[in-house]
Amino acid sequence: MRRIPDAFIVIAKALIVSFNVLPVVAAVLIVGLPQMVAAQAAHTSVTPYKDPSMTPEKRVADLLSRMTLEEKATMLAGSGWMESAPIERLGIPAIKMADGPMGVRAWYGSSAITNAANAATVVTSTSFPAGETMAATWDPDLVQREGQVIGQEVKALGRDMILGPTVNINRQPLWGRNFEGYGEDPYLTSRLAVAYVRGVQSEGVIPSVKHFAANNEEYERHRIDETIDERTLHEIYLPAFKAAVEEADAWTVMSAYNLVNGVHCAESPYLLNDVLRKEFGFKGFVVSDWGSTYSTAATVNAGMDLEMPGGEPMQKFMARPEALAQGSGAGWLTADKVVAAVKAGEITEATLDRNVESILRVIFVSGLFDNPHVATGIVDTPEQRAVALQGATEGIVLLKNAGALLPNGVALLPLDAKKIHSIAVIGPNAAVARTGGGGSSLVRPKQAITPEEGIRALAGTDVKVTYALGVGMEGENPEQDGTEARAKLRKEAADAAAQSDVAIVVVGRYPKLEGESFDVATMDLPPGQDELIEAVETANPHTIVVLNTGDPVTMTRWIEKTPALLFMGYGGQEGGKALANILFGVANPSGKLPVTMPKHFEDSPAYGHYPGEHLKVNYAEGIYVGYRYFDTKKIGPQFPFGFGLSYTSFEYSGLDVHSSRVGSKEPAVTVTVKNTGARAGAEVVQLYIHDGHSPIDRPEHELKGFRRVELKPGESKQVEFWLGRQDFSYWSPEKKGWVADPGAFEVQVGGSSRSIELREPLELR
Ligand code: BGC
Repeated sequence: MRRIPDAFIVIAKALIVSFNVLPVVAAVLIVGLPQMVAAQAAHTSVTPYKDPSMTPEKRVADLLSRMTLEEKATMLAGSGWMESAPIERLGIPAIKMADGPMGVRAWYGSSAITNAANAATVVTSTSFPAGETMAATWDPDLVQREGQVIGQEVKALGRDMILGPTVNINRQPLWGRNFEGYGEDPYLTSRLAVAYVRGVQSEGVIPSVKHFAANNEEYERHRIDETIDERTLHEIYLPAFKAAVEEADAWTVMSAYNLVNGVHCAESPYLLNDVLRKEFGFKGFVVSDWGSTYSTAATVNAGMDLEMPGGEPMQKFMARPEALAQGSGAGWLTADKVVAAVKAGEITEATLDRNVESILRVIFVSGLFDNPHVATGIVDTPEQRAVALQGATEGIVLLKNAGALLPNGVALLPLDAKKIHSIAVIGPNAAVARTGGGGSSLVRPKQAITPEEGIRALAGTDVKVTYALGVGMEGENPEQDGTEARAKLRKEAADAAAQSDVAIVVVGRYPKLEGESFDVATMDLPPGQDELIEAVETANPHTIVVLNTGDPVTMTRWIEKTPALLFMGYGGQEGGKALANILFGVANPSGKLPVTMPKHFEDSPAYGHYPGEHLKVNYAEGIYVGYRYFDTKKIGPQFPFGFGLSYTSFEYSGLDVHSSRVGSKEPAVTVTVKNTGARAGAEVVQLYIHDGHSPIDRPEHELKGFRRVELKPGESKQVEFWLGRQDFSYWSPEKKGWVADPGAFEVQVGGSSRSIELREPLELR
C-alpha cells in the first residue's frame, strides 16, 4: 500500500479548516489523488544505484549516467596518500586504503597520519609473518585465515582496502622484497594468493594483488625495462595473478613500477587489457603503484583505472628530489588532465566510462557503498595474534639437525630445559625483534617478542641464559662497526658460548639492509656475522644457528661445522615466541622452503642477467627459475626447494596414479604418508609432474600439488590429489594458449624437489 504523503494531508487539512473547501477537496481526492500519490512515490522511491537489491551492473550503469564528465575524471586519481576521491554529490565514498600485506600498516583516520616515527598518532596493529614465512607453512587454510583477520583489522582501523598480497616471484636472491612474496614457484604462490584474497574479501575488505607484473628487482624500479618472453611470463610471472582473479575474483590488482618489454606496466594494453581483462576475465579495477604512472591518455587507454597517490600528498611526493631523480611518476590522471585529454579526443568517453565503471563496481560489490566500515579500533585480538603465532611457528624451517649430542648424551635439538643448565643467546638479531623487511609492508606492532625473550620464557628459572651481542648490525651503531669493536664483541660472545651448555646464534638482516626500493647488496650475511658464527662454533660445538632474513644467504664458510640450523625468515611480532617453541620442541618444525637456497649467488639462474645494464634486464633464464633450473641443470643447491626437516620422520608408500581420472571429480593420485617417529608432526607432501615426451623444452619437473598433513606418532594418512589438464600444460606462444601434449608423464611425490620418494607413470590422453 502506498502511503499518502504527510505533506498532502497537512495541506488538505489546512484548506478544509481555513476555507471550508470540502466539495473541492473531495473532487481533488477523487480525481487527483492517485496521480499525486504516484508522482510522490516515484520521487521518494530508492534511486536505482542506491538500491542494494539491484545487480551491481545495473547500479553502476545508473550511477554512471548521473555523473558529469568532471566527476568521472575526478575518480581516476586519489584524493590523498591513501584515499580515492569521493563524489559527495552522489554519495560515492572514498576508498580508504592501508598498506600491507603483513598486517595493516598503521593508518588511522585521516590518511595524513602515518606510522612514521614523528607521526602525531601512532597506531599499532598485529604484525604478521612475512609472505615468505607464510609460504614456508605451505598452509593455504592458514593464509586464508590470516587474510581474514587482516581484513578485520583493516575495518577496525577505519580503512576499506589493504595493499596486498605481494605475489611477485623470487627470481633471484637479491630482490629487496623477496621476503614479501611467496617464493619462487608459481603454483605455491598461486595457492596462497587465492587464499589471502579470499580471506580478505570474506570480510568485505578490498585486497590488491601486487605488483602486476614481474616486479622482481628494486634496482631502478621506475625505469628498469625487463625483456621477458611470452611463455616465461605466462608460466612463471603471471599465474598467481591469474589464479587470484579466476579463482578468488580479486577486486583489485596493482600495476608495477617497472617496464615489461618496453612498456611501463601502467601503460601496457597487453598486460592490463589482453592478459588481465580478456585472458583472465578481471572485472575489478587496476590501481597504480604509488607514483608509477607516466602519462595521461596512454595510461587511461591501457585500462589503468586509479592513479595513486593524489591530491596534495602526491604533489609533495613528486617534489622530493629523490622522486625526481628516480623517475617517479604521478599526477597524470588529475581531473583537469583527463578532461583535457577527453576534449582533445585522446581518450574517448566510453573508455573513461569503462575505467570509472571498474572502480564503481568494486565499491558496490565489496559492500562499501551500502555498509561503510565503522572503526572500532579493536586490533591485535587474541585470535589475530594466534594466527600470527601459528604462521611464525609453522613457517620456521629446520635446515640441519646433525643429531649432535650434548656431553650428557642428550640430543641438542629439541632443547630439553630439564637437562641443560645454561644457554648463551648471541647475535645482532637475538635481542631485537626483527619482524620484517623494510618498506611499505612493515607493520608497527603493539609488542613484539624477541628470540631472547622467547628463549628465556621457555628455558625457565633453572637454566641460566646469558646474552651477548657478538657483532653490531651493520649501520645500526657506527661504534660497533670498527675492526677492534668487532673483535671485542666477538670475544665476549665466544666466552659466553664457552661457558654455556648450548649456544644459539641469531643472525640475519634488518630493514635497512633488506627492504623496498633497494636490493640486497650481497647474498653474504652482513659484515662480521660469518666470523661470529665461526667463533661461537669454535668455542662451543653445541651451537644452533638461526637465520632471521627474508632472502637466502651464503652459508659455505660455516655450514659443514654447524650441527643445527634454522631458517626463521621474518616471523612478525610472534617470531621470538615461535622460534622458542621450535627450539624447545613445544612445536615440531614443519616448515618447508618456498625457495631454493643456492650455495653462491653465482649459481643463481639469473646470475649475469641481473640487475641489467643501461636500464634493461633480460630474463634470459626464461622459465628456468629456482628449482626448475637447479633440478634440470643438475646443480646442487645449499638447500633445495620444498626442503625442511622435522623432529620426527615420515615414510611414503602406496602411490596410485589413475591416468583416466585426470580432469574428473575423482582424485588422480593417492599416496600414503606415515609418521614413523615418536613425536607428532606435520609433513608437506609435494607432487611434481615430469614431462617425458613433449617436443618443447620443459623443466625436469614442476610442482602441481601439495598437502600439509598432521600425523600422530605411528599414524598413517592417505593423501589425495586432483589433477586437471592445466597441470600438464605449457604456454604456447604460437597457439596463444595452454597446451597439454598427450603422452607419457611421470607423477613424483616426496618431501622436497630433491627428495622424490615415489614415482609412477601417467598417460595423458
Ligand atoms: C609499494 C607498494 C605499496 C605502495 C603504497 C609502493 O612504493 O611498491 O607495494 O603498496 O608504495 O605504500
